[in-house]
Amino acid sequence: MSITTPTTGLPPGLTLGSVHVATPVVLAPMAGITNAAYRRLCLEQMRLQGADGLFVCEMITSRGLVERDSTTLQMLVFDELEKVRSVQLYGTDPVYVGRAAEVLCAEYGVAHIDLNFGCPVPKVTRKGGGGALPWKRGLLAEILAAAVAAATPYGVPVTMKTRKGLDADHLTYLDAGRIAEETGVAAIALHGRTVEQAYSGEADWDAIAALVDHVDIPVLGNGDIWEAADAVRMVEETGASGVVVGRGCLGRPWLFRDLAAAFAGERVATLPNLGEVRDMMRRHAELLSEHLGEERGCKEFRKHVSWYLKGFRAGGPLRHQLALASSLAELDVLLAELDADDPFPVAELGTPRGRQGAPRKRVVLPEGWLDDRDGSGRHLREDATETTGG
Ligand SMILES: Cc1cc2nc3c(=O)[nH]c(=O)nc-3n(C[C@H](O)[C@H](O)[C@H](O)COP(=O)(O)O)c2cc1C
Repeated sequence: MSITTPTTGLPPGLTLGSVHVATPVVLAPMAGITNAAYRRLCLEQMRLQGADGLFVCEMITSRGLVERDSTTLQMLVFDELEKVRSVQLYGTDPVYVGRAAEVLCAEYGVAHIDLNFGCPVPKVTRKGGGGALPWKRGLLAEILAAAVAAATPYGVPVTMKTRKGLDADHLTYLDAGRIAEETGVAAIALHGRTVEQAYSGEADWDAIAALVDHVDIPVLGNGDIWEAADAVRMVEETGASGVVVGRGCLGRPWLFRDLAAAFAGERVATLPNLGEVRDMMRRHAELLSEHLGEERGCKEFRKHVSWYLKGFRAGGPLRHQLALASSLAELDVLLAELDADDPFPVAELGTPRGRQGAPRKRVVLPEGWLDDRDGSGRHLREDATETTGG
């Protein structure tokens, strides 16, 4: 079932250097979520509308890639349906980032590279990485320039994704936008929260609008898009060139169908009943099994169960068993117990999903980090196996 009303005057696709997609919508990189199986699931939904977006791989570390760390390489897998291979790199060292960008372009046929400067996780910011890094303007410029220099000979655009800053008193996004523009970065995505806020409170879309005013490169808006109508509203209110959608699509890959429709001028809200959600769950588990093997695939699927069933009447014991299934056959038996006719819980529409939590008590930074804003040539220790991401 769906509800349809017309919309008008929206951006005709998204162009990032040599890459063009028909719908200005990006699946946000989400560690542990946006693997090849999930990207394909979302892409399939967009294809139902005859559309295409950008689907970014889970974050991988530059050092892990350069050193051919096996966990890192296992994440660098693409589905055959993915025509535009898009990967997010994490890094704090211009040399590693440049070399990793080169490997992605030369050996993995990657068409778009995004750089992570937004991760709020203490073990990352403690080392000056993720959302902490843009405080060092000189170092940020060196990292961006190294990635752009490596990717440009392949015609591959580099983008960056960041937050507003460390906290309300230490904003970094406007400087980051200017530095991105000066170093040849193709676009900047802004999550309208600070590192201190993590995922709490509401994303500040005014900051996205301020960045649009401040730079000439495309700005992608990110934060709190729960429905396709929110994406349209974000573009209309901020002037962003496109949107980056994260938690809103957890347990709802069909949001990408609605997003494709919305940017094509129709307003559609797909409202699957539990039978249709069950089919999507089965498809998700099947794709994970294809890409990771059945045992690992079914284990990976467990974290998605509560998101798919959010608001439906399915009972606690059944949910619990579904989240323990270790084979597709076991999953099938349990999925058959769901009441296929249970209608979509419309009260869930427009409400937050996924992690929210509380603000951090303090932002953990390297000793003396705030004392200087340049950091050029600074050597930060980079872990090969960092996997936290957001
Ligand atoms: C489980 C999870 C993992 C994430 N991992 C990453 C990541 O690897 N890289 C990144 O830039 N952001 C990551 N994020 C942040 C999202 O990309 C996005 O910026 C954030 O969730 C805000 O957008 P939303 O309100 O649409 O969810 C992650 C978020 C979540 C919930």
